[in-house]
Amino acid sequence: MKQEIFKTESKQDTQEVASKLAASLHGGEVIIATGDLGAGKTAFCQGLGRALGVKGIINSPTFNLIKVYQGSTLNLYHVDCYRLENVDEERKNLGLEEVLGDHNIITYVEWPDYAPEYLKEYHPIIHIDIQYIDEERREITIQDERQ
Ligand SMILES: Nc1ncnc2c1ncn2[C@@H]1O[C@H](COP(=O)(O)OP(=O)(O)OP(=O)(O)O)[C@@H](O)[C@H]1O
Ligand SMILES: [Mg+2]
Repeated sequence: MKQEIFKTESKQDTQEVASKLAASLHGGEVIIATGDLGAGKTAFCQGLGRALGVKGIINSPTFNLIKVYQGSTLNLYHVDCYRLENVDEERKNLGLEEVLGDHNIITYVEWPDYAPEYLKEYHPIIHIDIQYIDEERREITIQDERQ
């Protein structure tokens, strides 16, 4: 497993780190993103999406917990499990079982601790952890199971 640490000083910096990761994606990967509220998990996903060729705005999934974006060759599934915190395992019906592992899809999951078990057990997983340092600075740790 490869681990890399990046220090960023703006949202754009963080999105630059994300675009470098995007260049290494083949499809079928699950990316889990941890870090406090406002750490920059969605900002990272925006950088990822842009680098994958998604047109239009990537914002937080709200009602459906999942948003699907079409990139130039891969589709990006943006999942936010925050609202599943107090939901029983059997009621976490995200409907992702059928698409996980599909080589046309990148799945990006915020708040993976609250995600259904099958998502957490999927491989390969790339883990992005974003720590808040101050208003503009973040420390991003990427653990990549593929390397
Ligand atoms: N270095 C940085 N990297 C990322 N975001 C930054 C940075 N500096 C400031 N920001 C700001 O921090 C905020 C991050 O918000 P974002 O919605 O991405 O957080 P989040 O981790 O997805 O939170 P939530 O758990 O609520 O979904 C944005 O307003 C962004 O502009
Ligand atoms: Mg978010």
